[in-house]
Amino acid sequence: MFWRGRGRTAPQWRSPQAKGGFKVADGVAGANPENGAGGDDPSRRDFIHIAAGAAAAGAAVTIAWPLVDQMNPAGDTLALASVEFDLTKVELGQSVTIKWRGKPLFIRHRTGAEIAAAIKDDNAPMRDPQTDEVRHKPGKAEWLVLIGTCTHLGCVPTFGGGDYKGWFCPCHGSHYDTSGRIRKGPAPTNLAVPEYAFVSDNMVKVG
Ligand code: FES
Repeated sequence: MFWRGRGRTAPQWRSPQAKGGFKVADGVAGANPENGAGGDDPSRRDFIHIAAGAAAAGAAVTIAWPLVDQMNPAGDTLALASVEFDLTKVELGQSVTIKWRGKPLFIRHRTGAEIAAAIKDDNAPMRDPQTDEVRHKPGKAEWLVLIGTCTHLGCVPTFGGGDYKGWFCPCHGSHYDTSGRIRKGPAPTNLAVPEYAFVSDNMVKVG
């Protein structure tokens, strides 16, 4: 109802205005001649508040739909949900960085020495202990596929640097080994391994 408060009169119902009859409450703005057209009638204010609220809710729905619609992934975004990469482009001992879902992705072709160094440290004290074996696909130790953002605050580490010759993050000095495991510095976890698969001997699909 549109009235409330001490000393205020509840609106009176009038007779139907015409046959077939609907009823009009006098408290509704403009319906009671005694109130005139002035803006002092509390019931009028109530009505205006309610009407304004309803209008705002309608506007919110109107605005919300385009926003929700925009949040649906566009076709080009879906296309980037997964990416295939030809590994023949990466020389032994090198790493390339590609973009995937807006993030850098490291694809590293490890040498035998780099693999051996990683395995040798499997049991070393680590902040985020993992063996090298679980960080690559079975039988594919020469290939590392990692998300290339430092797990501290998201900088992109540089290839081959740091005390462990894996990656070094210059932002705050995090050192990763040749398996991408955090070994020194503030980063809390290893470089993340994304979901990926070998679709042929020389082709990986990430995502
Ligand atoms: S962002 Fe890499 S060490 Fe801080």
